[in-house]
Amino acid sequence: MAIRKTKAAAPVLAHASGMNLLFQCDNLECLRHLKEQGFENMLDLVYIDPPFQSGERYYYRNKNKTGVAFEDSWDSEAYLEMLRARLVEIRKLMSSSGSIFVHLDWHASHYAKVLMDRIFGPENFRNEIIVKRGRRKNLQYQFKAIDRMHNAHDSILWYSKTEKAKFVPPVVPHKSEAQWMGFWSNTDRPTMRYEIFGYSPERGQWKWSKARALKAIDNYKTYASKFSNQASLEDYWNQTGRSEEFIRKRENVKYAEYWIPPKSHRILDNVWLDVEAYDYSTGYGTEKHQQLLDRIIAQFSTRGALVADFFCGSGTTLVLAEKLGRRWIGCDSSSKAISVTRKRLGKSSYSLVDL
Ligand SMILES: C[S@@+](CC[C@H](N)C(=O)[O-])C[C@H]1O[C@@H](n2cnc3c(N)ncnc32)[C@H](O)[C@@H]1O
Repeated sequence: MAIRKTKAAAPVLAHASGMNLLFQCDNLECLRHLKEQGFENMLDLVYIDPPFQSGERYYYRNKNKTGVAFEDSWDSEAYLEMLRARLVEIRKLMSSSGSIFVHLDWHASHYAKVLMDRIFGPENFRNEIIVKRGRRKNLQYQFKAIDRMHNAHDSILWYSKTEKAKFVPPVVPHKSEAQWMGFWSNTDRPTMRYEIFGYSPERGQWKWSKARALKAIDNYKTYASKFSNQASLEDYWNQTGRSEEFIRKRENVKYAEYWIPPKSHRILDNVWLDVEAYDYSTGYGTEKHQQLLDRIIAQFSTRGALVADFFCGSGTTLVLAEKLGRRWIGCDSSSKAISVTRKRLGKSSYSLVDL
């Protein structure tokens, strides 16, 4: 295995030579150490999945034995102070285009949002992302009366360090057929009411500007008069470079219609029910799913980016960062977590840092 045990003063050197870093210690110590060692403004993407303030104890289970991995019991003041101190230090290490994803649930996410607004600035809040909770069953079928609904989601709070951070729109494969839709909409914009096909609406608006609509009407006329015998509209659109827009008017339909081309992908919104958030592959109690980390790292960082997880648990973030060609820094205070992480990292090259 390509592991080097590094003494406290050496991580910058190790990192400069392309080495990833795994710390086994309290992450506050790790964060302060990284700052001293010149890592300020260097992190491109941080994902953290801290304790949720659930009041529970989490275990590591494998074939032979079960042991406590970590305890999640705090009073709320102490919990928020723990999180605050770490977020302040993490922010210092983030690059100006960097961002942070903080995975929590209903216990503390609202308090953490207020905290993060203070630390990162409300203008740098990007989204609250909703992901599925783990396998816990909804046990409420057995009761005649309930006091609340089953909690079926976690929240990931996404903040950037600065307002100027921009991202390529996150897309996922998703096939949809071409379709015609009504060109009128009931949003009332008088400047978008003009005459087409001899009709100008009295209220609402047409969906596009007049120039764009007239061009699209012309495009459809050309297709209908010259090419419709030889090719479907979709084939014609493909053959003409996939950029033409079309508007048509059918006799018995009140409004003109515009053509929506077929799609092979969709842009993500903040509800991610199409990926699993939890997995149970390592026996580490709170393991997150590779699908979730794949999405965050692949969509919100680029190849070669420096990705960090300071509550790395079983190492899911680090495994995915490695797989996706990112550099990484991980930290956990639990020896169980570090041993599971190391097992999962296999032959990956990294320095295990002993502070
Ligand atoms: C919810 S788990 C993370 C699970 C991880 N995302 C995964 O996929 O396995 C939280 C982790 O934070 C670690 N932790 C809690 N407090 C810490 C601290 N002060 N410093 C470093 N790690 C800490 C715990 O040991 C635990 O492994």
